[in-house]
Amino acid sequence: SSHFQYREGALCVEQVPLADIAAQFGTPCYVYSRAALTDGYRQFSNALQGREHLICYAVKANSNLAILNVFARLGAGFDIVSGGELQRVLAAGGDAGKVVFSGVGKSVAEMRLALDAGILCFNVESAAELERLNEVAGSMGKVAPISLRVNPDVDAKTHPYISTGLKQNKFGVAYTEAVALYRKAATLPHLRITGVDCHIGSQLTETSPFIAAVEKVLALVDALAREGIRLEHIDLGGGLGIRYNDETPPAIADYVAALLGALAGRSEKLVLEPGRVLVGNAGALLTRVEYLKPGEEKNFAIVDAAMNDLMRPALYDAYHNILPVQRENHVSQSYEVVGPICETGDFIGHARELAIAPQSLLAVLSAGAYGMSMSSNYNTRPRAAEVMVDGASVHLVRERETVPQLFAGEKIIS
Ligand code: LLP
Repeated sequence: SSHFQYREGALCVEQVPLADIAAQFGTPCYVYSRAALTDGYRQFSNALQGREHLICYAVKANSNLAILNVFARLGAGFDIVSGGELQRVLAAGGDAGKVVFSGVGKSVAEMRLALDAGILCFNVESAAELERLNEVAGSMGKVAPISLRVNPDVDAKTHPYISTGLKQNKFGVAYTEAVALYRKAATLPHLRITGVDCHIGSQLTETSPFIAAVEKVLALVDALAREGIRLEHIDLGGGLGIRYNDETPPAIADYVAALLGALAGRSEKLVLEPGRVLVGNAGALLTRVEYLKPGEEKNFAIVDAAMNDLMRPALYDAYHNILPVQRENHVSQSYEVVGPICETGDFIGHARELAIAPQSLLAVLSAGAYGMSMSSNYNTRPRAAEVMVDGASVHLVRERETVPQLFAGEKIIS
């Protein structure tokens, strides 16, 4: 994004050279641009002006408290998928009254937590969950606001692992069963029907599947109205893609305009759950070259970040652009950029043309979404530090983990 740019050969985030961040906080290190986060959010809110709406940032994309706080201050709501994410939102100053709770496996404890906090809506994904939520709410003397996540059965044309709107997926309730389930929900005394939601997949680069989904959702809204079930909001989920390499996803404004077009004449509040598009290109993973290892067939650049830090290449064969932090005068060669983990799948990028030497710093771009939030401690690797840049200031927003923290909860038996 425009917030990561070279200045006189030095890659900078906003006004700060990434090399300075590496010197101060070490590597691997995630670096986020506050301006990029704010920009993305404003693109949504500007495009939605004049229409009742709520932008619920999908916390799973990146759940660092500093990021949640930036969005909370801009007025965002949040889409959560666990009790843990709810506690993060509250700790970051988010408003429980703007939280929607998605996910196929909500536990009793999670339902209680969310009912106590007073969230905006439970996005219910099955008949069994409706029953459980009704019981839990009843036992607490509360009424749970609900939406049913319907599966519109449209093809998001994205990676099969991140496509969620097809019939064969585990998500949502079948479109054909939705009316019957709403009827049932209407009879349950501790539930209050407030909306409908859908989410068809992630990293979509076209608007047409979204529009197909809206049309199916609206047909359902009309069918419900004929039965006297009137909804307050329509939640169209997240899923808008970003540019990693050569993708050309629609701009936020164009995506929103297309949705608003499809919703013309409707008065329900519009809820969206964007994740990746708000944070993906607002973050980079900073890493240092440990070794260069020339080979007969391939040259390896072994870096200090690995699949435990950024799992997307290993898991989805995802592409992340990799740039040198300093333009240096080394011979440019094609490298396999790999981490130190004992797995062949531990790569960050294949066949990347780079002019680097041992100790060179690299920036793995578009790493703000599903990077840190999917990281692990595999190979007993402490998780990376996280830094947020705001203009010329640099803030450490998560300390690098220490090894003792990693096994603090473990015990040796006698
Ligand atoms: N709402 C629901 C119900 C979701 O399941 C998701 C993401 C979102 C919103 C946000 O979607 P987004 O705007 O970020 O596309 N780990 C994968 C992505 C998994 C997405 C899961 N659901 C990746 O690294 O590409």
